[in-house]
Amino acid sequence: VRIDWDKEQAEKDGYAHYMEKEIHEQPRALRNTMTGRIDETGQKVIFPNLQLSSRSVKQIEKIYIVACGTAYHAGLIGKHVIESLAQIPVEVDVASEFRYRRPLFAKNTLTIAVSQSGETADTLAAMREAKRNGSAVLAITNVVGSSIAREADDVITTNAGPEIAVASTKAYTSQLIAFYLWGMYLAQQKATMAPQEIAALLGKLKELPEQVAEILTHAKQLRHFAESIKDERQLFFIGRGIDFAVSMEGSLKLKEISYIHSEAYAAGELKHGTLALIEEGTRVIALSTQDALHEKMISNITEVKARGANVLGITHEDHLDLHRTVDDVCLIPKTDALLSPVLSVIPLQLIAYYTSVVLGNDVDRPRNLAKSVTVE
Ligand code: G6P
Repeated sequence: VRIDWDKEQAEKDGYAHYMEKEIHEQPRALRNTMTGRIDETGQKVIFPNLQLSSRSVKQIEKIYIVACGTAYHAGLIGKHVIESLAQIPVEVDVASEFRYRRPLFAKNTLTIAVSQSGETADTLAAMREAKRNGSAVLAITNVVGSSIAREADDVITTNAGPEIAVASTKAYTSQLIAFYLWGMYLAQQKATMAPQEIAALLGKLKELPEQVAEILTHAKQLRHFAESIKDERQLFFIGRGIDFAVSMEGSLKLKEISYIHSEAYAAGELKHGTLALIEEGTRVIALSTQDALHEKMISNITEVKARGANVLGITHEDHLDLHRTVDDVCLIPKTDALLSPVLSVIPLQLIAYYTSVVLGNDVDRPRNLAKSVTVE
C-alpha cells in the first residue's frame, strides 16, 4: 500500500501553519528555556556552564545588546529588565547600525548578541566588532553550535525547538525568558535584589507558561478582530515603557505577514506628531499592562478617541475601567509588570497570524523575507 504521506503536513502537527503551531508551542518552549537554570530550592538562578567568572560579572558596568528584527525587539525588553533588576546601564542597537556609529567600549563592558538562528550576518559582524574592542560577548540563541554561539564567550541557549515560520514567535518569548533569568542572575551577583525578591519574581516567572496557555485557549476570538482590520490601510500600536517595546514587536509581526502598514508609537509622543494621522475610524491597538502608567495611557487613548479612533485595549483584570474608554478589550492574566511582555505579545501574534490567514497570504513564507539573513 502506498501511503501519501505529506511530510510538511505531519510536521505541522494538525495546525494549518508552522506559525500557528509555534505560537501554540510557547508554553513548552518557555518551560524549556527555564529548565536547568533555577536551583532545586526554586529561589536562585544558576548558569552552570558560564565561563564569565563571578568576579567579572560583578564588575560589569555597561551592557550593549545587538540584534536584528524580532531579536532586537527582545533586546529592548532586555534593557528594561537588566536596568531595573541589576541597575547596569544598557544600550540596545540594531546590529547593522552598531559598527558604523563608533560605539564606545569602556572597561568591563558586556555585549549581548541575540539571534534565533545564530547565523545573522549583521549580528555576527556587530559581535565581532565588540570582541575586537575587548568586550566579553554573551550570545542568546536558539541554535546550539551556530556561528554566533561558537564565537561568543558564553551562550544562553533558548531551547525553544526549531522555528520554521519566518515570523518569529516562540523564539521571541523564549529570548525574553533568557533576559529575565540573566537579569536576575546579574542582580544576585551584584546584590541589587534581596534573595526574597528574586525568589518571588522566579515564582511569577514559573507561572508564565500556564498563563500563556490560558490566553491560547481563547485564540480563535482574535480571528473576529482580524476580520475587522483586514481591509485597513494602516494601524497604530501604542504603549508606554515596556508596553511600547511590545507594541513595536506587534507592529512588526503585522507588517511582516499581513502587509498592512502599521506603526508603533510611544503613547506620550502621539501628540508630537502621529496624532495628525488619526481620523474617523482609524484602528489603534493600545497596551496598558503597567499599573504605574495606566492613568497616563487612559489619557493618551482619550486623545485618539477624541479624533475618532477605534481602539482595542489590551490589559489585565485590575484595569477593567479601560472598558469605559476603548471600543473593545482583550484581557490577559496579571503578572509582575516586568514579565508582562510574555503575555501581552500573545494576542498581538494572534492578530497578525489571523489577519494574514483571512487575507489568504502565505503565512509561513511572507514575500521578500527570509528566515535567516546571512548577508550584510
Ligand atoms: C530575519 C527574519 C526575522 C528575524 C531576523 C533576525 O530578518 O526575517 O524574523 O527576526 O532575521 O534573525 P535571528 O535569527 O538573528 O534572530
